[in-house]
Amino acid sequence: MIDLHCHILPGIDDGARSLEESLAMARIAVKDGLHTIVATPHTLNGIYLNPAKRVTSLVAALQKILTENHIELRLFAGSEVHLCPQMVKRIKSGEAATINNGRKYILLELPVQTIPKGLKNEIFSLKLSGITPIIAHPERNTIIQHDPDILYELVSMGALSQVTAMSVTGGFGELARQSAEALLSHRLAHIIASDAHSVDGRPPVLSYAVEDATEILGSHEEAERMVTEAPAAILSGNALEICEPSRVRKQDHFWK
Ligand SMILES: [Fe+2]
Repeated sequence: MIDLHCHILPGIDDGARSLEESLAMARIAVKDGLHTIVATPHTLNGIYLNPAKRVTSLVAALQKILTENHIELRLFAGSEVHLCPQMVKRIKSGEAATINNGRKYILLELPVQTIPKGLKNEIFSLKLSGITPIIAHPERNTIIQHDPDILYELVSMGALSQVTAMSVTGGFGELARQSAEALLSHRLAHIIASDAHSVDGRPPVLSYAVEDATEILGSHEEAERMVTEAPAAILSGNALEICEPSRVRKQDHFWK
């Protein structure tokens, strides 16, 4: 399996606090069946600045240490860039790393409680520049939780979305779990990733979410694709074939 969203680099954001924790996270990941992780530290979120060059050199350094410790895990550079104005310009100047520095995909973080007005413009500009934004954990955005149609519109514009494994398994509460289930069942989610930050609170584990997603989707193959073929295509900068999404009817939600 491939984890497309993981805060495994030590000491540069609110993820792994030390090299020891990075190594412990890597061991957990391998034990769960992961062979590849994209390191996606926060950047441009008002707290952390992690330019592409920095992430790339830290990934190379951690990869070397993983190899020396016989941990069979491949690391690639990326970032979780917070929505901000002029994203294309910032990506081109290296303020935010695209996935595997391929300038084809970027992991895009939205605020938790709002959908900023400029979002569609930024997505439009990114797509126009050949960069596909992957919306990180939309199931945890309170506006999308109550109005999943917003995500349908973003996906219709060509954005992709990544649900977090622990949301699928219920670790972020019932609202996030229900939202993840609705997004998955309406084919509005394309990737499952851990968004791991530590060894205990949110470890790099995907297998349980794949089991739950199998039930939701009614297909183990489709659930597995969300942690194998789909992230592999993204990592390689290839186009991703997606299932036709459908709108989430408001009456489908018990919280409406
Ligand atoms: Fe994250």
